[in-house]
Amino acid sequence: MKIVESIESFSAIRQRWKNETIAFVPTMGALHGGHLSLMEKAKSVGSKVIVSIYVNPLQFGPNEDFQRYPRTREADLELCESLGVDLVFYPDTQALHPKGWVSLTQVVPPIELVNQFCGLSRPGHFTGVATIVLKLFQLVQPQFAIFGEKDAQQFAVIRRMVSDLNLPVQIVPAPTVREPDGLAKSSRNSYLSSASDRHQARLLFRLLATIQELYKQGMETTDEALKLAMESVLNEGLYPDFQLEYLGAVHRETFLPTEILDEDTRILVAAQIGNVRLIDNTLINEPLVLPDRDGALMQLTV
Ligand code: PAJ
Repeated sequence: MKIVESIESFSAIRQRWKNETIAFVPTMGALHGGHLSLMEKAKSVGSKVIVSIYVNPLQFGPNEDFQRYPRTREADLELCESLGVDLVFYPDTQALHPKGWVSLTQVVPPIELVNQFCGLSRPGHFTGVATIVLKLFQLVQPQFAIFGEKDAQQFAVIRRMVSDLNLPVQIVPAPTVREPDGLAKSSRNSYLSSASDRHQARLLFRLLATIQELYKQGMETTDEALKLAMESVLNEGLYPDFQLEYLGAVHRETFLPTEILDEDTRILVAAQIGNVRLIDNTLINEPLVLPDRDGALMQLTV
């Protein structure tokens, strides 16, 4: 496996691979089972798999966790190697933005996609994401790029950028990978330091599963279902550190809010548990598939 830090060395290899089908997985490292599933998917569509690892300062707000974001270089490289990744692009900010990253040409996603959900609490976040992803696409020139549905709004922003700017890359979705109890895997889960916080983190999944259940029982109004789910899940115990940021429903294609639940609805949730911010989502009909203790997949209804 090649590990490349400079743009020059990367471009030389990319040039040698000009006849390959490149499948690209952009990440910020602290790799977990979610990232690994993206790499597996990449292997199934490309002849060479390129993973980038870069904690992108542009997408963090001034009071966010850029400094403390987990950086686990050796473990990450070992995981990539064990999965058969062909190249890890591991640039630093000096290599990527030699003129400095504070003043840069940026890609601003359409307002209707970002003036809701994560975009509201994280102003500028999706501009930072779109800018770095476009830059990486330009360098890597992949035919395929794999993104997780775990970050549904990010996925919508990237897909829209590719369509609006006619980028020659196919965006491939990968389903959310979860812990056995339903918590979506995330690099930020490592911040959940107490058993109580870890327990409360599961409420995101339970809210989603409860709304799925209400829909199955015939509930069709978004407001009603969200309200009932919040009442039944959040009022059943004491959750001192759990602060719901949003619970909402959008159309799976347009990512615009929807008042009526139907098979095209995606439910989104974000919450703060202590000082850890977590997000999750699911399609209204999607089976929530969890690994059991032996790692086999099983389907869970709450
Ligand atoms: P990061 O959070 O490292 O995630 C990298 C990719 O892994 C994203 O496409 C994300 O959706 C996917 N992913 C994370 N958790 C997942 C899970 N539990 N199941 C499936 N996929 C999961 O997202 C970013 O980095 C950055 O914003 C980036 C796109 C790299 C731009 O800096």
